[in-house]
Amino acid sequence: MTELLRDYSLQSAEVPLVEECVIDAEERDGLKERIRTGLDALGATLVAHYYVDSDIQDLAEETGGLVSDSLEMARFGRDAAASTLIVSGVRFMGETAKILSPEKRVYMPTLQAECSLDIGCPPDEFAEFKAAHADRTVVVYANTSAQVKALSDWVVTSSCALEIVSHLKGRGEKVLWAPDKHLGRYIQEQTNADMILWSGACVVHEEFKAQALLDMKKVYPDAAVLVHPESPASVIEVADAVGSTSAIIRAAGELANDTFIVATDRGIFHKLKQLNPTKRFIEAPTAGDGATCRSCAHCPWMAMNELRALDRVLHDEAYRRDNEILMDPALGRQAKRPLDRMLEFQIR
Ligand code: 13P
Ligand code: SF4
Repeated sequence: MTELLRDYSLQSAEVPLVEECVIDAEERDGLKERIRTGLDALGATLVAHYYVDSDIQDLAEETGGLVSDSLEMARFGRDAAASTLIVSGVRFMGETAKILSPEKRVYMPTLQAECSLDIGCPPDEFAEFKAAHADRTVVVYANTSAQVKALSDWVVTSSCALEIVSHLKGRGEKVLWAPDKHLGRYIQEQTNADMILWSGACVVHEEFKAQALLDMKKVYPDAAVLVHPESPASVIEVADAVGSTSAIIRAAGELANDTFIVATDRGIFHKLKQLNPTKRFIEAPTAGDGATCRSCAHCPWMAMNELRALDRVLHDEAYRRDNEILMDPALGRQAKRPLDRMLEFQIR
């Protein structure tokens, strides 16, 4: 059973316009050096997502941190020996790190970095939704607030959602899913589980267009299409591989094709090219109004993770205080249970 609620997708005006940060080579090298020193001085580990600035991705790896998908960011942050984490991504990623390690200090280059799925799932409305379907197992995507996680039985990311929902279906459980309607519909189709879906969407992936993608396939007939499952069904239908950011990176290495059309945030191209220097990667077409950055295959909130902001959080104490993730301990404990369940499930 699939039931769609009112539409919780964001309107264009609710999505911030983020100017591309232009930094010359000299400033960039200087910032990178200051960031290395700052991490060292704070004894902090940098954990970054594949969508952020490529220099930040490199810095994370160079300094003993990690660049990865949201699931591995959570696991790595939890297991890191450092008592301070700098999480470069969007707010739910920083919150997840704090929930899993309440004893660690967790900072972000900016707490303004949100996510349309998180914004589109207000906890009080979600609580009503849950109350109206009390017989269901509540499964929420990691792209949610701590309050929504605290109301759930399971947290999942796109790396493990299929396996976890199949497992629940195998136990005869009916699922209440939130917030991404596209990912939810995809999981429902793949598993045939009984799911009721919240109706949120990712502003980045929703912009990919199937017809334009088919037109592009005519120009590159040998290209494989790699799609993140936050994309609409019509785009997923055209895909040669569907999966999380890490699954997309794996598929690019494993498939024999030389050319790939990639329907996810363009930040991932840095790692794709690094790992596959002889292969060609092309951005999947969006609605096309690239100049607004509301439709240019780049998450405006991920884009707020600039080198200057990262430098500032390391060197400016007042700014750091303002960009620390703080979590009410009782809320954190409640939200940790479904996260722990997700991380334990992986190692079964
Ligand atoms: P992954 O879990 O695949 O890294 O995705 C996170 C995300 O926000 C995608 O838009
Ligand atoms: Fe959220 Fe979409 Fe940005 Fe991912 S790309 S953080 S789902 S808005």
